[in-house]
Amino acid sequence: MKSKTLTPLFDLEKMAGSNGHSGNGFTGMDILSVNQFSPDSLEYIFARAREMREMVARAGAADLLKGVVLACLFYEPSTRTSSSFIAAIERLGGSVIPITQGVQFSSVSKGETLADTVRTLEQYSDVIVLRHPEIGSAKLAADYASVPVINAGDGAGEHPTQALLDLFTIREELGSLNGLKVAMVGDLRYGRTVHSLTKLLLHYDVSLRFVSPEILRLPLTLMNEVIDAGIDVRETHDVADVIENADVLYVTRVQKERFNDLAQYEAVKEYYVITPELMEQAQEKMVVMHPLPRVGEIHYSVDKDPRAAYFRQVQNGMYVRMALLAAVLGRA
Ligand code: NCD
Repeated sequence: MKSKTLTPLFDLEKMAGSNGHSGNGFTGMDILSVNQFSPDSLEYIFARAREMREMVARAGAADLLKGVVLACLFYEPSTRTSSSFIAAIERLGGSVIPITQGVQFSSVSKGETLADTVRTLEQYSDVIVLRHPEIGSAKLAADYASVPVINAGDGAGEHPTQALLDLFTIREELGSLNGLKVAMVGDLRYGRTVHSLTKLLLHYDVSLRFVSPEILRLPLTLMNEVIDAGIDVRETHDVADVIENADVLYVTRVQKERFNDLAQYEAVKEYYVITPELMEQAQEKMVVMHPLPRVGEIHYSVDKDPRAAYFRQVQNGMYVRMALLAAVLGRA
């Protein structure tokens, strides 16, 4: 059981907003997997993210999370996830213990376990954001910590906050989450953002197209979940098979760091490149997304295409994480 040491600043029932969601239900919760989210709770986070967007445009910052300390513990490289969590807490008046630019400078390099590191950080902080190379690491950390733990990527497992911002981006770009054809391209096997986003999309009336080389196909267990959900789904090796009909083209990097055999990586690393020529075949209202970093999958000349949404997606990450932090800390 997590202790709920922070008292909400506001009456959440009264502040539930126009979507009729009663209270946020997230107070004191660990955020480990997208399985924890229902369509209602997603709507709640998205509504709060829009408020955060307005607040930032209007005032830049607020003091909703004044006095809150976030420990940002990253055992894997990150630019967007770590910076957006830091920006999120700071724009809400809180502060950060940043262990992001090299866990090698912390006692982890002396052999300290994740459990002990987490049990130390919780003495100083109110919430821990963790990225770690092992599947299940966030769950393990949460078992030890009495403050909420937010999974910022556990190896090839999940990346729930990325999936929230991806879904939010689709919603804001296209105006709906239903009736869409979503094509996911690239490393579907190791790409944790693909795993989390796919699970969230199962709540909606979507068609899914998975495009990858043979060795990077979606894991079978996840494919079975998709099939069991009754979703219209197809797999292919060729982007040209899906681009004409796609509403969303979600492109990913081949996850070099997850390969045991680098020769296998070399064989597939340049499998896809989204070019302006390919974009000519796409619908006028399609959006191209990418969790970033890109390492060649989307040609730079696509960036000026208004359908290229990946930097807008980056910005949405901050609003969604502001909303999530406020919710988890009981101050939505
Ligand atoms: C992704 C990740 O870390 O899984 N990046 C991110 O968080 N924006 C995708 C990737 O590294 O390819």
